[in-house]
Amino acid sequence: WPLQISDYLAAKAPLGSQVSIRGWVRTRRDSKAGFSFINVHDGSAFDGIQVVADQSLPNYQDDVLKLSAGCSVEVSGELVKSAGKEQAVELQAQAISVLGWVDDPETYPVAKKRHSFEYLRTVAHLRPRTNTFGAVARVRNSAYQAIHRYFSERSFNWVNTPIITASDCEGAGEMFRVSTLDLLQVPRNDKGEIDFSRDFFADEAFLTVSGQLNGEAFCTALSRIYTFGPTFRAENSHTSRHLAEFWMVEPEVAFANLQDNADMAEEFLQTIFKAVLNECGDDMAFFAQHVNADAITRLQSIVDSEFVRMDYSEAITILEKCGKQFEFPLHWGVDLQSEHERYLAEEHVGRPVILMNYPKSIKAFYMRANDDDKTCAAMDVLAPGIGEIIGGSQREERLDLLDEKMDALGLKEDLWWYRDLRRYGTVPHAGFGLGFERLLNYITGLDNVRDVIPFPRVPGSALF
Ligand code: 4AD
Ligand code: MG
Repeated sequence: WPLQISDYLAAKAPLGSQVSIRGWVRTRRDSKAGFSFINVHDGSAFDGIQVVADQSLPNYQDDVLKLSAGCSVEVSGELVKSAGKEQAVELQAQAISVLGWVDDPETYPVAKKRHSFEYLRTVAHLRPRTNTFGAVARVRNSAYQAIHRYFSERSFNWVNTPIITASDCEGAGEMFRVSTLDLLQVPRNDKGEIDFSRDFFADEAFLTVSGQLNGEAFCTALSRIYTFGPTFRAENSHTSRHLAEFWMVEPEVAFANLQDNADMAEEFLQTIFKAVLNECGDDMAFFAQHVNADAITRLQSIVDSEFVRMDYSEAITILEKCGKQFEFPLHWGVDLQSEHERYLAEEHVGRPVILMNYPKSIKAFYMRANDDDKTCAAMDVLAPGIGEIIGGSQREERLDLLDEKMDALGLKEDLWWYRDLRRYGTVPHAGFGLGFERLLNYITGLDNVRDVIPFPRVPGSALF
């Protein structure tokens, strides 16, 4: 593979080498003395490389002086010491060929100037060319790789759970239906109900909201597994924290309890933060400069210290006593809203908090009931500025107790296979789901999940 701009900036080729680069022009400045500085990016690093082109180039007048932001070029020349302070090296061009012109430079949608995030979402196909979205893409990739490494180093197996499913894992009724039926001629049975048996599958089919239930089937055979893939929620939420399509990482560990689960969540997040700080220094420096001044220091402080753990009941007492007026009033037994989560993480603790042992009535059927008969072995990780980034639990491994829950919700028939995991060699096990985009919001300091996923899907959005 040829070296890229990042390699030259990192001095992987000696000064004086003959090299060639390919990329896209960001800026061009011309000097009266008959030469131009062209900043060329290829996305391999936050920075581009400065190309110096002078009028001795045969196409200086015809091509170089017409280059504008977005043009693609191939430049060959000599790596020389840079006269400026910004970078160590620059490229003294001996030949520049233009691979692609920009149609109309005046209307180039991501011309170099400050654009609002709202506007950039309308040109999601071009925003990767901007500083911010290039940095997001590299940080996202670094976090993604760190996640796979974390699990692989601890003997987890990556399991690809299905996207098309019949089960509503979270029981929130927020599933997108998958169907090949003609909406105008839906087949109905004698009772007038839609006859899904005549659809593509023998069952009603939906896009998955979580890979967990299928993940548990592999966990209770391979002991340590994780899923990492897209998940879907048809929530009509127009917030900065909700996407209709988002990526979730879901580890599931046999012979583990809630404490083990919290330990894993803590070590896991610290490992990802460490990797991003190591691998994406320039990108993180950009976020610290333009988005959130303590983007780097806060990640560093989390890597270096333990998370705070707190029971739900204690959190309710703190929230009731804090004297703050919340939009949603609170008492023991209700689910926390994002304003409460943020108060706890941001103002009360100032760092991520692991909240544990929630009332069982507000949590999913699969969570393990605690002995107090009121709470279950659930945990959420709450991050300052965002709220919940991880949701997880120890799972109910006792068939009789699981059956009670499933009976009450009418799940037993559909989830017969899930009951089998308790009928045949049941074991204690626990896991969690990390919302990958919420994690990236926390890392970068950007405050909307729409700006950390390449092509956001939200209610009413155009689909690129
Ligand atoms: O808390 P949730 O709903 O938990 C589950 O789905 C479990 N089955 C996970 C498990 O135990 N294996 O979702 C997990 C995380 C949330 O903490 C949040 O970070 C993220 O997924 N999330 C969303 N992210 C973006 N947009 C949405 N609409 C999201 N809904 C949940
Ligand atoms: Mg949750």
